[in-house]
Amino acid sequence: MSNKLKVLLTGGCGYIGSHTAVELMRAGHEVVIADDLVNASRSVLPRIEKLGGAKAPFYELDVCDEAALDALFAKEKPDAVIHFAGLKCVPESVTKPLLYYRNNLVSTMNLLAVMSKYGTGSIVFSSSATVYGEAEKMPISEDQPTGACTNPYGMTKHMSEVIIRDTAAAEKGLGAVLLRYFNPIGADESGLIGEEPLGVPNNLLPFVAQVATGRREKLFVYGNDYPTPDGTCIRDYIHVTDLALAHVKALDYISQRKGCEVFNVGTGKGYSVLEVVDAFSKACGHPVRYEFAPRRAGDIPAMYADPEKAERVLGWKAVRSMEKMCEDTWRWQSNNPMGYEKE
Ligand code: UD1
Repeated sequence: MSNKLKVLLTGGCGYIGSHTAVELMRAGHEVVIADDLVNASRSVLPRIEKLGGAKAPFYELDVCDEAALDALFAKEKPDAVIHFAGLKCVPESVTKPLLYYRNNLVSTMNLLAVMSKYGTGSIVFSSSATVYGEAEKMPISEDQPTGACTNPYGMTKHMSEVIIRDTAAAEKGLGAVLLRYFNPIGADESGLIGEEPLGVPNNLLPFVAQVATGRREKLFVYGNDYPTPDGTCIRDYIHVTDLALAHVKALDYISQRKGCEVFNVGTGKGYSVLEVVDAFSKACGHPVRYEFAPRRAGDIPAMYADPEKAERVLGWKAVRSMEKMCEDTWRWQSNNPMGYEKE
């Protein structure tokens, strides 16, 4: 039986944060949420509480505001932190690099400083497979080189990893896990919570889902001349509930240890863009319209994880299929065609 912890989730109202909040509650942990609501909605909170069957104290704050964070720690004294908060739009990071470096790095540093002040012993960080840049070998294992990222967003994930690793090496009381996510999709199977991108979605699944509901006319498939079986890019899509459960396992693991460990969080299986469109068309019951368009700058042909370390060390493995990922995305999208209600 693992320890029951009080866990602070920065960015806990976002897509991955909200699903992780629910799974932590289901596992018996206490959840405290901090979010500045820049890219999330307050109306997710009652839904998290309903699904998780517990209350979550909520703090509307920016993690870059160290005084506000300090006040939260003084009141709540969390045992552990899962750090989701951060800006995540790749093209925006290219046009506004300083915004991304300041926001994503200052928040990470503030958090580590306040954790040290209050003696908080564990952190799990939302990293990304983007830290591998254009990896040479597939599947990608954790020991492949990182840091040659193709955009400032990716660099902030890499730099945050370095900052956390160095801090864990210096602070003997700190344990850290870096989770490198592949491509999270899907939604809680209730259809009550899901992904709600601001404006026009950049990522594949939210766009496909909005075409399926008729909110957008068609999908543009970026490139059909890649060196892959059908010419479209291959990615490792992972159900957000599997991803959320990886956080629960990572927390159980690190709350009993010190130092810093890194894990890929993927399924190990790649799907092409056309295979995803096909799976989604089956899930929603009608064909999703698409058209081929030129390649998107910065995309690489194929990327998928070697997830063996997470299974061996954490006892975690992704179990939800592509079919399930599409069915759950569709349930969320068709029940909430305009996302969460606006306040
Ligand atoms: C993207 C980011 C990555 C980030 C991840 C977070 C880029 C270049 N990379 O990964 O840094 O960590 O999101 O989830 O933005 N596609 C289309 N049409 C669309 C949208 C996407 O064909 O309208 C294709 C893309 O070319 C790609 C695949 O779908 O081959 C997946 O794209 P996406 O969902 O944006 O994820 P990544 O690019 O893998």
